[in-house]
Amino acid sequence: MSPSSFGFQPFQVLVIRDKKLLEELTAVTWGGQKQFPTASEVLLFNIRKDVRFDSDYIDHCLKTVRNLPAEVIDIYKPLVKQHQEQDFKLLHDIRYLHDWAGKQIYIALGNLMSAAAEIGIDSCPIEGFSIETVTDILVKHDIIDPALQEPCVFCAIGYRAAPPARPKARRDINELIKFIDAENV
Ligand SMILES: Cc1cc2nc3c(=O)[nH]c(=O)nc-3n(C[C@H](O)[C@H](O)[C@H](O)COP(=O)(O)O)c2cc1C
Repeated sequence: MSPSSFGFQPFQVLVIRDKKLLEELTAVTWGGQKQFPTASEVLLFNIRKDVRFDSDYIDHCLKTVRNLPAEVIDIYKPLVKQHQEQDFKLLHDIRYLHDWAGKQIYIALGNLMSAAAEIGIDSCPIEGFSIETVTDILVKHDIIDPALQEPCVFCAIGYRAAPPARPKARRDINELIKFIDAENV
């Protein structure tokens, strides 16, 4: 139920349960050396590369997923076009569209981690890998189509085996947050 821009959910989630594939991915994921072999589940969020205003995918989301009436779709689609072409300029370089899909992924990732924590399950997002190398492995096994998907972030989840070795460290709240009150303006 994570929200996403226009409700387009521009991603796919893989749950990597095949042990051999997981081993292959572990070998190339420097950031998951401790987590992958011990996690209950290893997820991979892939961005969808086809979430352009004029794509079949957008039609599918509006018509089938959201079941919007034709007259609402007629209002919606020009707004999506304007958003992508002008407001956020996502089509100037295709990388922008992909990064925008990635932003939606991190909302879902954050919700996943918070929801897991609420029920006592630990999680660790993992960006310590080469997108190219992981793509090659998934393409080799026919799991993703590189024209349509690109690995974005892993998330390993499971119950902790032991308490954390070190306490959590965060910047001081006054370094992180600046309060702007009337007397500062
Ligand atoms: C987007 C993202 C990517 C991360 N990638 C890795 C990773 O590849 N390997 C790893 O061990 N931790 C990774 N982390 C975890 C951070 O290192 C960790 O959250 C941070 O050091 C703070 O530690 P704490 O969350 O245990 O307090 C990642 C966290 C985020 C949000």
